[in-house]
Amino acid sequence: AATRYNEWEISYQLRSPDCVRKLAVTINGQTPGPTIRAAQGDTVVVRVKNSLLTENVAIHWHGVRQRGTPWADGTEGVTQCPVLPGDTFTYTFVVDRPGTYMYHAHYGMQRSAGLNGLIVVAAAPGEPEPFAYDGEHAVLLNDWWHASTYEQAAGLASVPLVWVGEPQSLLNNGRGRFADCSAAAAASNASLPECAAPVFAVVPGKTYRFRVASVTSLSALNFEIEGHQMTVVEADGHYVKPFVVKNLNIYSGETYSVLIKADQDPNRNYWLASNVVSRKPGTATGTAVLSYYGGRSSPRRPPPTTPPTGPAWDDTMYRFRQSVATVAHPAHIQTPPPCADRTILLLNTQNRINGAIKWALNNVSFTLPHTPYLVAMKSGLLGAFDQRPPETYAHQGYDIYGVQKNQNATTSDALYRLQFGSVVDVVLQNANMLAPNNSETHPWHLHGHDFWVLGYGIGRFDPAVHPASYNLKDPILKNTVAVHPYGWTALRFKADNPGVWAFHCHIESHFFMGMGIVFEEGVERVGKLPQEIMGCGMTKGH
Ligand code: C2O
Repeated sequence: AATRYNEWEISYQLRSPDCVRKLAVTINGQTPGPTIRAAQGDTVVVRVKNSLLTENVAIHWHGVRQRGTPWADGTEGVTQCPVLPGDTFTYTFVVDRPGTYMYHAHYGMQRSAGLNGLIVVAAAPGEPEPFAYDGEHAVLLNDWWHASTYEQAAGLASVPLVWVGEPQSLLNNGRGRFADCSAAAAASNASLPECAAPVFAVVPGKTYRFRVASVTSLSALNFEIEGHQMTVVEADGHYVKPFVVKNLNIYSGETYSVLIKADQDPNRNYWLASNVVSRKPGTATGTAVLSYYGGRSSPRRPPPTTPPTGPAWDDTMYRFRQSVATVAHPAHIQTPPPCADRTILLLNTQNRINGAIKWALNNVSFTLPHTPYLVAMKSGLLGAFDQRPPETYAHQGYDIYGVQKNQNATTSDALYRLQFGSVVDVVLQNANMLAPNNSETHPWHLHGHDFWVLGYGIGRFDPAVHPASYNLKDPILKNTVAVHPYGWTALRFKADNPGVWAFHCHIESHFFMGMGIVFEEGVERVGKLPQEIMGCGMTKGH
């Protein structure tokens, strides 16, 4: 196995990803940052220099389990102190499984400022993948706002709340086009190569793997390649029992690989389209171009059609069916343990705390401590966070379709301690928000693990009924999963990775508003912590 060294300098630059100029957080001047390419078993080293001048940074390697290196997870407040302006921090970790992953900032709401990118891990030599293709392309989907991340964060913390609103643009590999007829600025910049639509070239008759990842801050997306059906073959680094779709629903934090056959008329171009689903769209379709080599159309020419508009944004069942269809490839099934040692039911609600609007789990809204849990627990700094276990919550009788009656929640930085090696079930229960007749999709992401997705439902989870319908035969392993509007999602994992791991809604503003929890398991087994993760909160001087 090889070691892949990367030298990154993080800085603010003026960029125009959607033809409108804005300050962006860049890596070596780029947003998205460079794609990390490695092979299974390789060690990745990223030396990060923070040149932001006034802002901390931390980078999370999303989907990499960090077995044996829990301090390299990059989660500020959980596994490390932030990297201060002018400082350098080196992340070293092993990519132990092939697949498509991503990285992004994990400090405040910095991810949405542009610090993100892809990790592509090839299968180890001699380890064939259960599908064949002739070439591959990678697509990183994002949503983009013109307001600064600071303005957004301040708005979210204000009373009354100033919501971030729908994104101005949808980006494909960091490029989009702000579509607003009054946008003179966009029009005058429309010739910038920086915001020219990406072109994906294919050879007629060949099969292509498209690796698709979503690092959106808010939007659930539907991705379509006009005129080309997709066969879904990978999800979050695990092989999927292939199924064919016209378009792909993808939530923030998810990755997929789809195969397409270049079997259409090569003399015209086709749209790659991303459309917002699950929220009422206020953003134009994000577009890029598929072009055939040797065809008569110039690669830059827009296709002769209007871009696909995707399924109805509020067709929950359309998306639900894709979730249920995503199961493990028959030759790559990892059977889950037959039962759980512990079940944690998490009710997802919107609440009020001192007038501010927050998200809460079982009426507790999460706050990050100033001392990272990993350091606090290893060093016995008991005052660093609330030592009491999160309270259990009586779900019986909760009306998920109604507006919550007791809207007051508490804030806490207490964590869930898991017995090392135990099997844990988590059931995420969605509900109505503060506004009547409204429930959103939440993509939940677990650090440090993959989990089996045992089941989905719409309605209230019944612990006496639904576990009997769990898929224990061929559930997919994932690291991010959607809980659909008014629905529930059940997942299972083994608490066998010593460390402290965040579990949160991958919508940037929802996590910022408290939608997350933290698990600890086997922290006593973690080796000596590197000095460079310390230096903040109660670890000053450690
Ligand atoms: Cu990709 Cu904790 O997030």
